[in-house]
Amino acid sequence: MSTNNNHLNHSLILIVLLLIAFATKSEQSKQIPALYVFGDSLVDSGNNHYLPGEYSQNFFPYGIDFGTPTGRCTNGKTVADFLAIYLGLPFAPAYLGLSRSKRNRIVTTGINYASAGSGILPDTSNKTSVIMDEQINGFERTIKEILPKGLSKEAVEKHVSESLFLVSSGVNDHFKNGTFRGSRKFASYLIKEFKIRLLDFA
Ligand SMILES: *[C@@H]1O[C@H](CO)[C@@H](O)[C@H](O)[C@H]1NC(C)=O
Ligand SMILES: *[C@@H]1O[C@H](CO)[C@@H](O)[C@H](O)[C@H]1NC(C)=O
Repeated sequence: MSTNNNHLNHSLILIVLLLIAFATKSEQSKQIPALYVFGDSLVDSGNNHYLPGEYSQNFFPYGIDFGTPTGRCTNGKTVADFLAIYLGLPFAPAYLGLSRSKRNRIVTTGINYASAGSGILPDTSNKTSVIMDEQINGFERTIKEILPKGLSKEAVEKHVSESLFLVSSGVNDHFKNGTFRGSRKFASYLIKEFKIRLLDFA
């Protein structure tokens, strides 16, 4: 738990936010149909609560503004929640918290795959968090197995192309075993690793 806590604390101090928001082919005036969220504790809406072990933030004062801990690493809303409000969408629910039937119902407005403690690299907190590669796998499962239940192949493509993707990651990679390992070279390496995943994803 202590290593994980270090990751979380540091992520609050050193905010290296990689924000990738893109909505291709969508005109300004058109409603964005869904918000899909990936990354770490800055945007996790409760996924860690569903991991084995005690890696969630499911205790006060986390979530105190909601009246109950939600798994978010904050007293209130995350930047993903504020974005959802701005877009007129519901808060993107934690992927791991959705039952199969709930996923089918809720998926059209977005899902949150983010996991506190995770980074871009697969060896960052991989025992206590859902790593980026697995978060992307979750989204791929969503496209292949969940969205097609209610939408035609063409409609799924349209839906995805009009949706907004928020990624906030890279902070936790800077800490290995609680030790800061930042440098210009490491940052370039991280960006390269992130780019690989982004291109893979696109
Ligand atoms: C998890 O991280 C450790 C090092 O911290 C690494 O040796 C191992 O290969 C990683 N596992 C996966 C599945 O990436
Ligand atoms: C992690 O850090 C602790 C204390 O700082 C040290 O005892 C331990 O050997 C380190 N583990 C690794 C895998 O480097």
